[in-house]
Amino acid sequence: MNLLIIGSGGREHAIALAVKKSPLCDKLICAPGNPGMATLGRCIPVSVTDPKAIADLAQAESIDLTIVGPEIPLVAGVVDEFRKRGLRAFGPIAGAAALEGSKAFSKDIMKKYAVPTAAYETFTDLSSALNFLKMHPAPIVVKASGLAAGKGAIVCLTDAEAIAAVEEMLGEKAVFGESGKTVVIEEFMEGEEASLFAVCDGKDYVLLASAQDHKRIFDNDLGPNTGGMGAYAPAPVVTDSLLAEVKKTIIEPTFRGMVQEGVPYTGVLYVGIMVTPQGPKVVEYNCRLGDPECQVVLPLYDGDVLALFDAAERGVLSSLKAPEAPRGSAAVVVLASGGYPGDYKKGCVVTGLEAAEKTGAHVLHAGTKMENGNLVTAGGRVFGVVGSGDTLQDALDQAYAGCTEVKYDGIFYRKDIGKKGLQRGLK
Ligand code: AMP
Ligand code: GLY
Repeated sequence: MNLLIIGSGGREHAIALAVKKSPLCDKLICAPGNPGMATLGRCIPVSVTDPKAIADLAQAESIDLTIVGPEIPLVAGVVDEFRKRGLRAFGPIAGAAALEGSKAFSKDIMKKYAVPTAAYETFTDLSSALNFLKMHPAPIVVKASGLAAGKGAIVCLTDAEAIAAVEEMLGEKAVFGESGKTVVIEEFMEGEEASLFAVCDGKDYVLLASAQDHKRIFDNDLGPNTGGMGAYAPAPVVTDSLLAEVKKTIIEPTFRGMVQEGVPYTGVLYVGIMVTPQGPKVVEYNCRLGDPECQVVLPLYDGDVLALFDAAERGVLSSLKAPEAPRGSAAVVVLASGGYPGDYKKGCVVTGLEAAEKTGAHVLHAGTKMENGNLVTAGGRVFGVVGSGDTLQDALDQAYAGCTEVKYDGIFYRKDIGKKGLQRGLK
């Protein structure tokens, strides 16, 4: 099969590594790709916001299956464009990707199909939103409805923060642009978070390993939210009985609801849950694999990842042998640029990758580029260093051994990835 992977981050590097292992994989093209992916396939520049350009590339390169990594092309309708041309792309159509593209839509779907989530109201004008806040004191969560690169959810611990968040979105400044012109205000949920990934073909689904992300920049979950500073899988907070409840009360009603709405879900549904005292509730849906979670979830899949995505795209998941439960653990530590998620330096020369790989860890590229023959930093999250082993401790030891070998100016990473998992594992 000739494959095209769309995207350029750690998630797409992880997908490229996984599909490259498959005997079904012939030619591999990555667009735009990154220096790590360039060791696995040919990289070709493309605008990921342009569905037509992506479909043109797939046609020009005689691609059999395109795997779309990020949400932006999915929400923009890249899969619709492929289907129109009789081409095959793994991912949801725009009407289904709206589960991530519009929080207002996803909350309405949850309400309609009785999926447990935080109570909420949707607003498009400032004065009604401010009135609502008068009746609903903090803690409360204010969310831009549209895509906001992970920055659109503001957990407000004081009334003043909530008022400021609403004013930023719905006031003159419109800090989140169009994405913040519709605002969801929701109840604050307390509990531990976990990420689940369901690969769906429109009818049936296969669950990948559960994972736990570390969204805050600093150790002990302090500081601002980021795209994710590390992850591990499986997540012991997701016990077998919790998983059974999530399937019954969240995943299955959501997929059935999407069929009833006329937008059956094909692709990966990322279900972010909060394990609250009242049971699991949805924090958010995303229409793609999580990053960095997929860097640990894909290596634990007991089977051929490409065969799985291919069967899901064809609508024949039920023909696949059911995967075994994941064996062992995997952990990823994100190496960031000092200053991220705020301003940070770019263009710093990177060394030590070979030594890092010698520890047995895998170094996935998230924000790098080649400049004058040197590998340099080019993003806030620069690498994901992935370790694996029989236990979570083994996986973490390997990942951290890899991290200490990588060198660049301003390197920063959390030292407590997996701590909650280790504590739970010991209970
Ligand atoms: P989202 O972009 O919706 O995933 O939110 C980003 C992060 O904000 C989540 O991973 C949670 O840590 C936090 N968050 C979002 N919604 C809530 C909520 N209703 N209650 C508590 N925390 C939340
Ligand atoms: N790690 C969070 C996300 O991919 O949205």
